[in-house]
Amino acid sequence: MVEAERMRVSVIGTGYLGATTAACLAEMGYEVIGLDVDEAKISMLRSGRVPFFEPGLDELLTANLETGRLRFTTDFAETAEFADVHLICVGTPQRDDSGAADLRYVNSAVERLAPHLTRPTVVVGRSTVPVGTAATLAARLAALAPVGAEAELGWSPEFLREGFGVEDTLRPNRIVIGTDSSRVEKTVRALWQQQVDEGVPFLVTDLQTAELVKVSANAFLATKISFINAMAEVSEVAGADVIQLAEALSYDDRIGGKFLGPGLGFGGGCLPKDIRAFMARADELGVEPALSFLREVDAINQRRRARTIDIARQLIGGNFAGRTVTVLGAAFKPNSDDIRDSPALDVASTIASLGARVTVYDPAALERAREEHPELNYADSMLEAARGADVVLLLTEWAEFREANPEELATVVAQKRIVDGRNALDPTFWRASGWTYRALGRQ
Ligand code: UDX
Repeated sequence: MVEAERMRVSVIGTGYLGATTAACLAEMGYEVIGLDVDEAKISMLRSGRVPFFEPGLDELLTANLETGRLRFTTDFAETAEFADVHLICVGTPQRDDSGAADLRYVNSAVERLAPHLTRPTVVVGRSTVPVGTAATLAARLAALAPVGAEAELGWSPEFLREGFGVEDTLRPNRIVIGTDSSRVEKTVRALWQQQVDEGVPFLVTDLQTAELVKVSANAFLATKISFINAMAEVSEVAGADVIQLAEALSYDDRIGGKFLGPGLGFGGGCLPKDIRAFMARADELGVEPALSFLREVDAINQRRRARTIDIARQLIGGNFAGRTVTVLGAAFKPNSDDIRDSPALDVASTIASLGARVTVYDPAALERAREEHPELNYADSMLEAARGADVVLLLTEWAEFREANPEELATVVAQKRIVDGRNALDPTFWRASGWTYRALGRQ
């Protein structure tokens, strides 16, 4: 085993997970090399710029580039030469042709690194993969590495939330390592020794359990959100209020209040694709019925988008054609510029396809939204976006929107109508300013 303080670490893949992990490990005192096949991304990182919005990461990146503990490359040979431990942090997006995970980037990371491994090495996968992937990759690694079985692979899922990536890396709520090798276990324990000493639970499992921890955690979170959104559907027709219902449920600490926020539902690069990949894998394993409830979780989530559009349509008299619609929010959640499977942009784009002129404003995600959705109009401020609106939809709950002044917004819109897709506003306050306020799951 390598001494922790001298450990040299590589992080393969420098997206949200990899760039954050690399900067945090350098901050913890390790010497770190970040590798990506995307030259543009690497040259940005080298110059101290983070290619995405992640609070606190810029400072960490700049500081650690300056100390010399952190550097970036596109070269696998250099990476293999430099590091004793390699963390695979590449993406596993949804495949174009099915709900399954696309494993081409993890496969390629192992296949391109392995031929350069000439001394005993530990490779740790952190990407979210279908159960069974790690065992196959471990065999492939040993077969392709000149050092053979001395190149060992374990799997250690991460649980980072975008927007809290630095915090979640430096102070994770648990560390899980799937392996049957004591060398891999010791190396991963040494890597996170500071956290283990601070009391972070450290769990050693087999490869399969480690892979499952991640997907089942995300499946549980998605289920919790869809559960409260199903209650919102019932509340709307039964004359109940889902916000009060959620609050009352939350005081039972077996249930808890987190991830019980009703509204437009979940999006992003993880929850939607992870539940679909999990179902696809269960199907392959012949246990499809075990996860069939996730189909319902997905369906409830998609219905929230349709319901939000219905409410807006009702508010403007039944037809979007020729109307002016303002959408506040483009990112899949606040404090992020990630628009992958963004519920807000999905709703905006559907409303535009129904004939409305839709203008979107978001504090961080405008640039990305513009690229992906040229059919929408964009404004550089909330007030500019709301000018002349027949209806305003709040679809991502940025603090700027939560704190919006209804009196001020009233001066620019054509009609004071708002759909609060995230239950982020105080209905009494907005109604008192003369707005017609509608939300999901409330009267
Ligand atoms: C998630 C997991 O939280 C994280 O542990 C995992 O590593 C990656 O996937 P992330 O995708 O960053 O993280 O976002 P998260 O904060 O979990 O939110 C996911 C989606 O659920 C967002 O669209 C959010 O708006 C929505 N959400 C969340 C709700 O609709 N209601 C809630 O109560 C909570």
